[in-house]
Amino acid sequence: MLKKEIETALNKQILIEAQSSQIYLAMASWAETQGLGGTAQFLYKHSDEERVHMLKLVQYVNERGGKALIPALTKPDEDYQSLNFLFQTLLDHEVMVSNEINHLVEICLDQKDYTTHNFMQWYVAEQIEEEALARTIMDKLRMIGSDKGGLYLFDRDIEQISMASSNEQQ
Ligand code: FEO
Repeated sequence: MLKKEIETALNKQILIEAQSSQIYLAMASWAETQGLGGTAQFLYKHSDEERVHMLKLVQYVNERGGKALIPALTKPDEDYQSLNFLFQTLLDHEVMVSNEINHLVEICLDQKDYTTHNFMQWYVAEQIEEEALARTIMDKLRMIGSDKGGLYLFDRDIEQISMASSNEQQ
């Protein structure tokens, strides 16, 4: 049976993952309207992955005798100005998510819930990969600058990249 503190913290994380999925969906849709088809596909896929992150938490909470709460979501921004702005926003968002995951892990230790602590290790590893990839993407965009040919190749190649290889092991 989950302790109330753990259940509350996991439900907060369900909201964060669901909101992440919604934000990346909005980013994907924006990219699609800008003719950035590869970037749109990458972000649609990433949005789906975040939904899976949410789902794993929902099922874990319910399996452990808690009650997963399916949250209302906030409307994400509609405009992202440029690829640079979009991926910087994505990176900042993932850093925030990592901080939240680390906080959740701390709560597990405080409450001596080693089962949930163990369950959360998948998310810890996932965040390391997601942040690293977002940083690599930002480095590439900085290198490309405003070079149109570079941006064309970036958009073509990013479609092949998955946000995190550990997603394949879900
Ligand atoms: Fe599920 Fe990108 O955090």
